[in-house]
Amino acid sequence: MKKVIFSGVQSTGTLMIGNYIGAVKNWARMQDEYDCIYCVVDYHALTVRQEPAAFKENARSMFALLIAAGLDPDKNTLYFQSQVSAHAELAWILNCFTYAGELNRMTQYKEKSQRHADNINAGLYTYPVLMAADILLYQASLVPVGEDQKQHLELCRDVALRFNNIYGNVFTVPEAHIPQMGARIMSLQDTDKKMSKSETENPNNVIFLLDPPETIMKKCKRAVTDSDGLIKFDTANKPGISNLLTIYACLKDISTDECEKQFAGMGYGALKTAVGEAVCETVAPIKKKYDMLISDAAYLDEICIKNGNRAAKAAAETLDRVKAAVGINTF
Ligand code: TRP
Repeated sequence: MKKVIFSGVQSTGTLMIGNYIGAVKNWARMQDEYDCIYCVVDYHALTVRQEPAAFKENARSMFALLIAAGLDPDKNTLYFQSQVSAHAELAWILNCFTYAGELNRMTQYKEKSQRHADNINAGLYTYPVLMAADILLYQASLVPVGEDQKQHLELCRDVALRFNNIYGNVFTVPEAHIPQMGARIMSLQDTDKKMSKSETENPNNVIFLLDPPETIMKKCKRAVTDSDGLIKFDTANKPGISNLLTIYACLKDISTDECEKQFAGMGYGALKTAVGEAVCETVAPIKKKYDMLISDAAYLDEICIKNGNRAAKAAAETLDRVKAAVGINTF
């Protein structure tokens, strides 16, 4: 049996080049070796108030974009969280095995409560429990996530261990899988900050996968560098140049050393152009596939139904075991 990989993607916003390099590109590489399950987490996204029509569209758009960016829906179980009601059911049960004290310590909850002070709802508070349910339902061993989700994953492990200690080995205890190179693509203008798909202040900080080529070239040309004119990989002293080198190296599948050699003696302008072109080359086929998918509603629906059913079957097995363990009557 192949090991199970599970990860979730928020259904709001759109993907940017950092998501592609740090996540989706790696996921596409793992699709033969592992049993890969990727979930568009629309229930998680509801923790922030959403406009219904846009919310619905956005979720479909994210789904199509994940396929366009390389996740083969025949090899990966790609579906919407809301398609499998077991997520919500297991989340409830796990709520009863999670302490309020643990949730109070979650830094993302504290941050989001500040940002959405007018809507600190219970969903925002129990967000990490739903996330634990997502993962544990599929007996996942590996969970590819960014640094920012490590604390949530620790909580998931704690809850799984707690449950297993009481009821025997019901859950596989998962581990975080944090990619090395390219895990942190930084903002183009503000190199102290990670590039974020929810960037609101300065659109020049982030390259979206669906940005047109002119926009991509412009954003790359405006990227912050430094004044010593040397193309060298040195994240501490030359964060802007190092970030551009990382993007280039990841997209071309070469090391940053090799990349440094390739650009030795060249000017920053040439590097920026090369990075811009590499990004444009990467996103062109993604955009083409995306346009095709998004205009074929019937095909997209068919994929969703097929994958959702596959996920539901696997989830039901775990949920049945959980119910049996805690003593819920089934008929
Ligand atoms: N909380 C994750 C994020 O914001 C998304 C997510 C939901 C997730 N459920 C998950 C990630 C399960 C990994 C596994 O990025």
